[in-house]
Amino acid sequence: MRAAILDAYDKNGRELAVRDAPIPDPGPGEALVRVATAGVNPLDNMIVRGEVRLIVPYRTPLVMGNELVGTVERLGAGTRGLSVGDRVFGRMPLAKIGAFAEYAAVSASALAKVPDYLSDEEAACVPLTALTALQSFELMGLHPGETVFISGGTGSLGAMAIPVAKGLGLTVITNGNGASEERVRALGADRFIDYKKESYAEVLADVDGVLDTLGEQELPAQFSILKRGGTLVSLRGLPNGDFARRSGMSLVKRAMFGLAGRKFDKMAERRGQTYRFVFVHEDGAGLERVVGLFGERRIEASVDGVFDLADVNAAMAKVAAGGSKGKTVLRIA
Ligand SMILES: NC(=O)c1ccc[n+]([C@@H]2O[C@H](COP(=O)([O-])OP(=O)(O)OC[C@H]3O[C@@H](n4cnc5c(N)ncnc54)[C@H](OP(=O)(O)O)[C@@H]3O)[C@@H](O)[C@H]2O)c1
Repeated sequence: MRAAILDAYDKNGRELAVRDAPIPDPGPGEALVRVATAGVNPLDNMIVRGEVRLIVPYRTPLVMGNELVGTVERLGAGTRGLSVGDRVFGRMPLAKIGAFAEYAAVSASALAKVPDYLSDEEAACVPLTALTALQSFELMGLHPGETVFISGGTGSLGAMAIPVAKGLGLTVITNGNGASEERVRALGADRFIDYKKESYAEVLADVDGVLDTLGEQELPAQFSILKRGGTLVSLRGLPNGDFARRSGMSLVKRAMFGLAGRKFDKMAERRGQTYRFVFVHEDGAGLERVVGLFGERRIEASVDGVFDLADVNAAMAKVAAGGSKGKTVLRIA
C-alpha cells in the first residue's frame, strides 16, 4: 500500500516520504480500514518537529496521520461492534497513528459509524476536533446556558468546537480572523471578535469557561476574562501535573509536567480558577455522542482544501502556513 512516512524527526520540519509499506494486519479488537480520506492537523507538523515526543514518543519510521474516514475491510480476532463494509471514522489511537495510508489497522473502540449525510471529505473534518472539543468541555464542567470563550475559533478546531458547544447548550464567544466572521456566526457563534481589531481582554469578563488554542503568550489575558472558580482548558499551553495524572503517565513524567505547567497552575490558583491541558485521545463512543448531539440539525463540516496522498507535503505546508478556513483533507482512496 502507499503511505506517507516520517523517517526522522527534525525540529526545522522535513518532508514525508510517500512510498510502499506493508498492509497492516488487524490485531485482536482491531478493524482493517481501507482509508478514503484523512484530516491534516497542526498536530501532524508538531509530530514531525518532535514537539510532542514527551507526550507520545513515536518511533520512526512512522506512518503519519491522526484521523481517518474509511470502510471496514476485515476484522481482527474478537473485534465487536463493527461489520465488514461499515463506513467508519475516528481519531487514531494515541499509541498507534497511521491515517495517511491506504489501509490502517485501528482499534474498534476508536471508531464510530459515519452519518450518511457526510461525504468522505466532510467526515474527515470531524473526529479529532470534535473529540478535542467534547473532552475539553467535559473538563470545564459547564452547564447549558453558560458561556464559553473559544480563542482562535476561525480555524479547523473552532469549526467543530463552536457547533459542539452549541449542541451542549452553551453560549459561544470566539475571536479570530475577521474574514471568517460570517462563517463562524453561521456555525453558531453568538459573539465574534476580530483579533486584529479588538482585544477580547478589554471587552470580556467573567466568562464561565475558556478553551485556549493560542498558547502561552495569550494565557494571562485568557485567565483575566474567566470567572473566579472557572476552568481554562488549553490545547496549546504546557501540559501540567493534572494532565500527566489523567493520562496515566509515569511518576517521572508527572513530576516533569508538574514543573512545566506550574506557572499556569499558579496563575489559575490566584483567582480560584483551574488550569487544565488536553491532548485529544481516541474515543469512538465520544464520537457517537457528538453525532447524536447534532441529531436532525446535522454536522456542518468546513473543508478548506483537498489534496491527494501524493501531495501530502503540500497539504502539511498549507496547514503550517495558517490562514485556515477549516480542515485540510487528504483524499487517499
Ligand atoms: N491539544 C490538542 O489535543 C489539540 C487538538 C486540536 C488542535 N490543537 C491546537 O489548537 C490550535 C488550533 O488548531 P486549528 O486546527 O484550529 O488551527 P488552524 O486551523 O490553523 O486555525 C487557527 C486559527 O486561529 C486564528 N488565529 C491566529 N492567531 C490568532 C490570535 N492571536 N487570536 C485569535 N485568533 C488567531 C487563525 O487566523 P489567521 O488566519 O489570521 O492565522 C486561524 O483562523 C493549534 O495550535 C493546534 O495544534 C490542539
